[in-house]
Amino acid sequence: MATPQPHTSASTESMVKSATPILPQLPKIEDLIPSFNLENHVTLITGGSGGLAHTLAQALILQGSSIALMDLNQEGLKNLKKELENFIKHYHDKIPNADKIVISIWQCDVSDPKHVDEVINAIPQKHNGVIPMKLVHTAGYCENLKAEQYDPIRFQKLVNVNLNGSFYIVQSLTNLHLKTKEAILNNNVSSLALPNFNMKLSYVLIASMSGLIVNHPQPQSAYNASKSGVIHLCKSLACEWAKYGIKINCISPGYIATELTKKVISQSVEGLELMREWTSRVPLERMAEPKEFIGSVLYLLSDNASSYTTGENMVVDGGYTCW
Ligand SMILES: NC(=O)c1ccc[n+]([C@@H]2O[C@H](COP(=O)([O-])OP(=O)(O)OC[C@H]3O[C@@H](n4cnc5c(N)ncnc54)[C@H](O)[C@@H]3O)[C@@H](O)[C@H]2O)c1
Repeated sequence: MATPQPHTSASTESMVKSATPILPQLPKIEDLIPSFNLENHVTLITGGSGGLAHTLAQALILQGSSIALMDLNQEGLKNLKKELENFIKHYHDKIPNADKIVISIWQCDVSDPKHVDEVINAIPQKHNGVIPMKLVHTAGYCENLKAEQYDPIRFQKLVNVNLNGSFYIVQSLTNLHLKTKEAILNNNVSSLALPNFNMKLSYVLIASMSGLIVNHPQPQSAYNASKSGVIHLCKSLACEWAKYGIKINCISPGYIATELTKKVISQSVEGLELMREWTSRVPLERMAEPKEFIGSVLYLLSDNASSYTTGENMVVDGGYTCW
């Protein structure tokens, strides 16, 4: 019988060697301090008029990123643009490259793939030809309807926005990058450009803990199914697009106290009872504030902090899904 041979591929050996240096050298300081800086970047934020997007946009500006905001709600976009421009003036000294930051707004229905493509292809024109390499996709909505009474058209519409819309956005952005890369490689350089074209793309999709558990007591089958789909879509695309230098991850929030949920809770006795029921299921005994998602978003967008993280569903739910 043949003796089993040790596995001696050259690349495996060199990886093992690099992991265990005999004479350790001093590491580079930048390899030990993760950077969340987004200077010269354009970050596309969908659902840009929403509660979560509002806080995330401010946090990304503080890292030096220009922002392209996309939403259905044109009025909300205009208001937020004004507010963010004031924010930049107010915190000018704290923002890297503050004078170079541009805020653009784009009215768009993420469930319309043709419109999504038109808008994504137009964004660089407002940002000196720079294509967004970072994406935070928050657009989506929830409905509380009993499954046996759910109108199939309504059900389809919600899935079309939350799940299919997530696909249309990332597909369109990826194709714009691939098209541009090909043009650059063929020396057929278009008006689009990237500061350093190294394809360090990072997409963050906002899913939900509802993609993992069933919320109680309100019925929301379409929403839960759509968010479950977002989580698995993310994993599938992470595997397909790693070869292009694209990281794609999800964040699954628990209940967040945005303007929307605050209104529901404060306007009726039932709303208050609903909040009590929700928070009784959260080990941290409260809802989240939008600012509590900044850390996970910056981590996932970062080129070096999360360089080995893709296809992950980061659950930020105060412990809800543990019980
Ligand atoms: N608020 C929560 O408790 C909670 C919990 C878990 C997950 N989430 C998810 O987080 C994300 C943001 O939630 P939020 O609390 O900021 O809600 P929000 O309603 O304040 O924001 C969502 C935004 O998406 C936009 N939008 C809806 N449909 C759209 C479409 N077809 N095209 C483009 N834009 C569209 C809305 O206009 C709105 O501005 C959503 O995906 C939501 O499902 C929220």
